[in-house]
Amino acid sequence: MAEVKIFADNPSVAVEFAKCFRDYVNNLDQDSITVCLSGGSTPKLLFEELAANHREAIDWSRLHFFWGDERCVAPEDPQSNYGECRKLLLDQIEIPVTNVQRVIGESDPNAEADRYGRTITDNVATGENGLPVFDLMILGMGGDGHTASIFPHQMDLLTSEKICDVAVHPDSGQKRVTITGPVINNAKQVVFLITGGGKADVLATVKDGSGIQYPATHVQPKSGELLFFLDQAAAAKL
Ligand code: 6PG
Repeated sequence: MAEVKIFADNPSVAVEFAKCFRDYVNNLDQDSITVCLSGGSTPKLLFEELAANHREAIDWSRLHFFWGDERCVAPEDPQSNYGECRKLLLDQIEIPVTNVQRVIGESDPNAEADRYGRTITDNVATGENGLPVFDLMILGMGGDGHTASIFPHQMDLLTSEKICDVAVHPDSGQKRVTITGPVINNAKQVVFLITGGGKADVLATVKDGSGIQYPATHVQPKSGELLFFLDQAAAAKL
């Protein structure tokens, strides 16, 4: 059963999840923790909060960062999920360069999806089903119910046999590298950070499971926990 935490607004979601993130990683009795980050705008406040108020509270050398999806652009491009995270968090903390595995957005999408899939396989623990098991998977959700870069017109990415695959944004046609559904659902802890009233209607059907046309509805961790960190606007129809 998914746990739902609702806070006043986007800044409050960032503040409260940052505390949860800190406690989760600090209480994990393991030397190495794999974290798969989401992109978009919601996590930016989280990155700023972690850098501002938790920089000294976390041993960042234990954390290994990956991305659940990346736009096929160079890191300097403002659309780059890695580039934004580097600016807001990675440049502010003591984390070994080798602990940060970015998608090479400027590479050929298909080749990079294969390369990044191998990178994940080589650096993330493998579960009994032979798939990578992230300790923490942070996801967002778009107003169309997409998550990572699995959009409603590419539902096959939810069951892809690949670790990572190439996605296409339905409106812009922008190519992206995305983690696939089976890897998302293999994580120990999956957390949705969802804010904004524009997502309320879709979120209600994602949460009650009726929105089968939305990729986010199919995020149902096999054995891991599922949490929703929401602001009141996004949670308005729950
Ligand atoms: C991306 C994301 C994507 C994002 C949602 C929500 O690269 O765009 O990974 O899945 O989480 O689109 O984006 P917002 O946080 O900007 O609403």
